Amino acid sequence: MQLTALAKSRYTTKAYDNSRKIPQETIDILLDQLRHSPSSVNSQPWHFVVASDEQGKARVAKGAEGGFVYNEAKILNASHAIVLCTRTEMTEEHLQALLAQEERDGRFDGAADAMAGQDKSRRGYVNLHKHDQKDVQHWMEKQTYLALGTLLLGAASLGLDATPMEGFDFKKLDSELGLREKGFTSLVIVALGYRSETDFNAKLPKSRLPAETVFTYL
Ligand SMILES: Cc1cc2nc3c(=O)[nH]c(=O)nc-3n(C[C@H](O)[C@H](O)[C@H](O)COP(=O)(O)O)c2cc1C
Repeated sequence: MQLTALAKSRYTTKAYDNSRKIPQETIDILLDQLRHSPSSVNSQPWHFVVASDEQGKARVAKGAEGGFVYNEAKILNASHAIVLCTRTEMTEEHLQALLAQEERDGRFDGAADAMAGQDKSRRGYVNLHKHDQKDVQHWMEKQTYLALGTLLLGAASLGLDATPMEGFDFKKLDSELGLREKGFTSLVIVALGYRSETDFNAKLPKSRLPAETVFTYL
């Protein structure tokens, strides 16, 4: 299907058919797409926690108790749930790991100056957000939201239904998954699977502001 058609046909699924499981090869393709999301200066300040069975989904659903209970069944009845997490700090170790990976992937072709240039440019951006704009956490989270976009369109391209969710208790989920000790914090949960026939949202038309209000042509 064309990307435009996918963008129009995908929708936020509110109820899942809990008898259907996403095949492992489809999940593998989706995770491969997710891992290849773009990020500013290739910073990849993310981590993805994948829950694929009842036990795993129950742990993720702990973040959707209390005031966020409206999201609980979506997580539990979906086939999979992915927690998109962001680093709590841009560490020296991570910066070095990025550069070493780029070298292994053949980005510098043995040219030490190219490698040093890339390192300097990335650190420049990180320092800009850390020290001048003082929004490094926000900047890193923006990168994770780009990954969310890739994941949602990727899921649609594979015939999967999905639900992005910010409605959960970040602190509770971070604690359940031990994220902060590992240097991450949860940002958004995506439930994935196949819609239930009872999903009211599947039948509703998509609603977006008209083109003339969202585009300015120069
Ligand atoms: C970052 C983000 C967070 C969202 N959080 C929730 C949520 O917690 N629960 C929910 O049911 N839908 C959630 N939504 C779904 C939006 O309400 C939905 O994307 C929007 O109304 C547009 O509808 P569509 O996705 O069906 O095109 C979220 C969407 C995004 C992008």
